[in-house]
Amino acid sequence: MATVQDRIDLMRSKSEHNMQGGGPNRVAKQHGKGKLTARERIEILFDEGTFVELDQFVKHRCTNFGQEKKDLPCEGVVTGYGTVNGRLVYAFAQDFTVEGGSLGEMHAKKIWKVQDMAMKMGAPIIGINDSGGARIQEAVDALSGYGGIFLRNTLASGVIPQISVIMGPCAGGAVYSPALTDFIYMVKNTSQMFITGPAVIKSVTAEEVTAEQLGGAMTHNSTSGVAHFAADTEEDCLNQIRYLLGFLPSNNMDDAPQADTGDDPSRMDEGLNTVIPDNPNMPYNMKDVIRMLVDNGEFYEAQEHYARNIITCFAHFDGRSVGIIANQPNVMAGCLDINASDKSSRFIRFCDAFNIPIVNLVDVPGFLPGTDQEYGGIIRHGAKMLYAYSEASVPKVTVITRKAYGGSYLAMCSRDLGADQVMAWPTSEIAVMGPAGAANVIFRKDPDVKQKTAEYIEEFATPYKAAERGYVDMVIEPSETRPRIITALNMLASKREDRPAKKHGNVPL
Ligand code: HXC
Repeated sequence: MATVQDRIDLMRSKSEHNMQGGGPNRVAKQHGKGKLTARERIEILFDEGTFVELDQFVKHRCTNFGQEKKDLPCEGVVTGYGTVNGRLVYAFAQDFTVEGGSLGEMHAKKIWKVQDMAMKMGAPIIGINDSGGARIQEAVDALSGYGGIFLRNTLASGVIPQISVIMGPCAGGAVYSPALTDFIYMVKNTSQMFITGPAVIKSVTAEEVTAEQLGGAMTHNSTSGVAHFAADTEEDCLNQIRYLLGFLPSNNMDDAPQADTGDDPSRMDEGLNTVIPDNPNMPYNMKDVIRMLVDNGEFYEAQEHYARNIITCFAHFDGRSVGIIANQPNVMAGCLDINASDKSSRFIRFCDAFNIPIVNLVDVPGFLPGTDQEYGGIIRHGAKMLYAYSEASVPKVTVITRKAYGGSYLAMCSRDLGADQVMAWPTSEIAVMGPAGAANVIFRKDPDVKQKTAEYIEEFATPYKAAERGYVDMVIEPSETRPRIITALNMLASKREDRPAKKHGNVPL
């Protein structure tokens, strides 16, 4: 009969076996590709020694294609909870060394369990994806596994932050759960996402493309807009996620954590008085403005490489987390186009869902004209911005630095879309349209068209017409913008604004 010590030894040896994943050869192969193992990733993500593993002994029950003979440690996914910067976080990390991290029924059920727990406890969940998709041998059971994950992703959307990390060749079903979450991180050169891989594409369309060109980190960060962050290494990636979590509340009922940044809330910056060029057609870098405004000049950009004509980032004002949406005059003169509308609308909705106040920096000449944009549905996409700002009930502060024309003035969170505080620099030009366009319509038959255009600029391309009507609350000196924003955010801290009860709105998609 086995002694107690025998039983303890058996438990230890089973656990040790499980901890080894696919074994030393496959682990060496994983390392050889510049990738860490699931457990090594978890070690970096969580505060040291805090990770508690669940379901280490879960086993698949597939008997198709001789699968019953296969030993798949931990079912190819490590799941559990721990703390990040002292706060509760759930995670799952797929283990590519076990059947390519492919997802079968029981693998999925392990993920469902941590998704359900994260929802009950109101804590963020991080999914580390490194998987060949649905485990082919498990057929429809694997599809059911994905279905349950997608459902849980959707139910958790707007309740807890969900962050996906792509750390390998993620194919098929492995890409749709990330796409339902709030942010996707990718690692340059070692992670790819695609619905169908290069081989399938070649056989169906004869198109030849490498995996990296098709779905690498920079493809999805700069071309498709599917991913939000690109890291140089896996370690850098996981540390960036720790940093991001510092800006976020644990759930939609919490406030974002207050950071101790040590930056003086009344700090002015004379540099802001000279940032706008005298010539209104000259660009400047809006990131310089952001740097001068926020605590310690530090901000964290989401989708840095995509639709660079608009900037979306997290930063702190006097230690308070905010989301900043800012036009970038340096890229396409800061025009709004389809991609910029999609990028900013999603960011606005994230901030609103998680009680993060929004600060808008406006220098926008208009929506980008052209058949490409019209045929691509700029009307439908641009409407997302109007919808997202109108729907957002978090504090909204708008600072107009220069141009704010027409529909794009409204779309960048004007007073009428519910901005709580609107400030304008003396360099602001708030008008129904740009001077050239206006002259072309109303003065084109006038022999004094030049003179009339100059008068239009003098009278209408200013902040004062808008201030006369109260669309702008204050015209401020650029140097004092930081304390003005902080005062506004302090005033708005107790903002409560109800929306009509409904099942959900019908955001233009
Ligand atoms: C079962 C899988 C698997 C899968 C990989 N493996 N993907 N087993 N189901 N989906 C196994 C491999 O057979 C191999 O096992 C081991 O994992 C490592 O895979 P390799 O191919 O050797 O690795 P690599 O060369 O790095 O290529 C990785 C890969 C490739 C690009 C991901 O494995 C691949 O193309 N896999 C299939 C991808 C795919 O088409 N998935 C779609 C599934 S359908 P051995 O024992 O030989 O080492 C799907 C639909 C869901 O997901 C839709 C929901 C919306």
